[in-house]
Amino acid sequence: MNWHSALDPAGPQAAAILRLWHFMLPVSVLVYVIVIGALLLIILRRRTTDEDPRSPAREAVARRSITIGIAVTVVIAFITLVYDLTIGRTLMAESFPAPLTIRVTGHQWWWEVEYEDSIPHNRVRLANEIHIPVGRPVRIELVSHDVIHSFWMPNLGGKKDLIPGHDNELWLRADRAGVYRGQCAEFCGIEHAKMTLIVVAEPPDRFDTWLARQREPAGIPSDTLAARGRLVFEGGSCAMCHTVTSTLAQGRVGPDLTHVASRLALGAGTVPNTPGNLAGWILDPQTIKPGALMPSHALPPSDLRALVAFLEALR
Ligand code: CUA
Repeated sequence: MNWHSALDPAGPQAAAILRLWHFMLPVSVLVYVIVIGALLLIILRRRTTDEDPRSPAREAVARRSITIGIAVTVVIAFITLVYDLTIGRTLMAESFPAPLTIRVTGHQWWWEVEYEDSIPHNRVRLANEIHIPVGRPVRIELVSHDVIHSFWMPNLGGKKDLIPGHDNELWLRADRAGVYRGQCAEFCGIEHAKMTLIVVAEPPDRFDTWLARQREPAGIPSDTLAARGRLVFEGGSCAMCHTVTSTLAQGRVGPDLTHVASRLALGAGTVPNTPGNLAGWILDPQTIKPGALMPSHALPPSDLRALVAFLEALR
C-alpha cells in the first residue's frame, strides 16, 4: 500500500494535482535542459573568427536571442499560470447539499477532530484520525488557536494552512478505500515532524458503524483491573487534560480519549497503538516524542497495569 504519496491519488482533488504535476515536470525538465545546453554551448564554443563581439551584426544576434528567450519564458509562465488556476478552481468546485463536515483543529503537536452534527449529542470528538465514507464529498474546516499548521493528505488533496484567527476549508473525496497518511506541512515547533494524521476511507456502511460506535459514551469497565484503572485515571493528573465521556475526566487540553483503544496510533502517528506502547507513552512520552506537552508519569507498576487495562477497554 502506497499510503503517503501525491503520485498515487485516491480522489478527484489529488488526481487534479497529479495532472498539473504531469504537465509541469516535463516542461520544467525541458526548460532546464535547454538553458543548461545553451550555457554549455556558449562556454565551450571556440571562437573561430576574430570578429569584434561588439560589432553591429553580433549585437543584432544577441538582441534577437534575448527577445526570443523572453517571449518563450512569458508564454510558458502564462500557460502554467492558467493551468494552475484552473486546477485551483477544480479543487474548490466540489459542493454537495449535505456534506459530511469535519472540524480539524491543529494543536502543538496533534490534531483535534470533531464530526459536526446539528444535534449536539451526535457530535463526535477524537484525535489524530479521521474516518470518511468512500465516494462522499467531505468538507474539512481548518482551525488553529496557537500557531500556523498545514493540513496535507497527499493521496487525497493539496495543502491548506490552519491559521489562527482565519478559518479555512478544504474539500476531499476518497474514491478508493484505504488508510492514508497525512502530515502537518508547516513548521510549527519542535515536534512538527511528528504531527501526523491518519485518514481511514471505508465503505459507507462500515463508516456508519464506526461513527455510531464513536457516538456512544465510553464503555464502563467490567473487570476489576480496568475498574481500578478508571480510578487511577480520574484521581490522577490524566483527568486534568483528557476527556473520557461518562467519567469524571473532562479535561480539554489534550486529546479526547473516549475511544482511544479504537485508534491506529498514539502520539499523533508516532507509534502504533499497542498496550506496550501505551504504557511506555504514559510513563515517558518525552522519550517517544521529545517536547510533547504531555509530562511523564512515574506510576507504580500496579497502577500502570490497571490504567492501561482501563484505556484498552475504551474501544
Ligand atoms: Cu503542526 Cu507542523
